[in-house]
Amino acid sequence: MKIALGADHAGFEYKNRIADLLRKQGHEIIDYGTNDATPVDYPIYGYAVGEAVASGRAQRGIVVCGSSLGIAMAANKVPGVRCAPVFEPLMTELARRHNDANVLALSERLTGWEMTERLVDVFFSTPFEGGRHAHRVEMLFEFGDAARERTLKSIETGQVTGAQTPKEFL
Ligand code: RB5
Repeated sequence: MKIALGADHAGFEYKNRIADLLRKQGHEIIDYGTNDATPVDYPIYGYAVGEAVASGRAQRGIVVCGSSLGIAMAANKVPGVRCAPVFEPLMTELARRHNDANVLALSERLTGWEMTERLVDVFFSTPFEGGRHAHRVEMLFEFGDAARERTLKSIETGQVTGAQTPKEFL
C-alpha cells in the first residue's frame, strides 16, 4: 500500500520510526517531512498528507504532532479526508470500522512508542464495516450550502433530529 506520512518538529521522530516499520512490512512510503527539530507549522504537513490521500497519490496517511490534534485538524480541512486522532486501540478500531478513517493522527508527546506501534497495526488491519455506517461517512462530505442552511434552520427551531435520515439507516 502507498502511505503518506507527515509530521511537525514535535512528531518527526515517530514519523521516521513509523516509516521504518511500514517499509519493513512492504509498504511504499511517501514522506512529506519534516525531518528535524527546527520549529515548523503543522498545518503544512497535515495539508500535504491530506491532499496526497484525497488525490489518490496515497491510499492512507499518518500524521504526527505533539498532541495529534493540530495536524489532525489540518488534514481534516482537505475534502475527502477522514482523519482520526487516536490514543488507544479500541478508538483506532472504531475509527476504521465505523468512520472509515483514511488518515491516522498520532501524538509523540502523549503516547508511548509501544502503544503507537499497536495503533498503527490496528489502523491497517481493521476493515470498514460499511452497512449503516456508509451513508454517515458520505454525509461528512455533504456539508455544502444546502446542508448549512438546513442545519442553521434546525438549530434555530430546536428541531435537530434525524428527520431527514431514512429509517433504515438510524
Ligand atoms: C508544537 O509545540 C505543538 O503545538 C504541535 O506539535 C501540536 O501539538 C499542535 O497541535
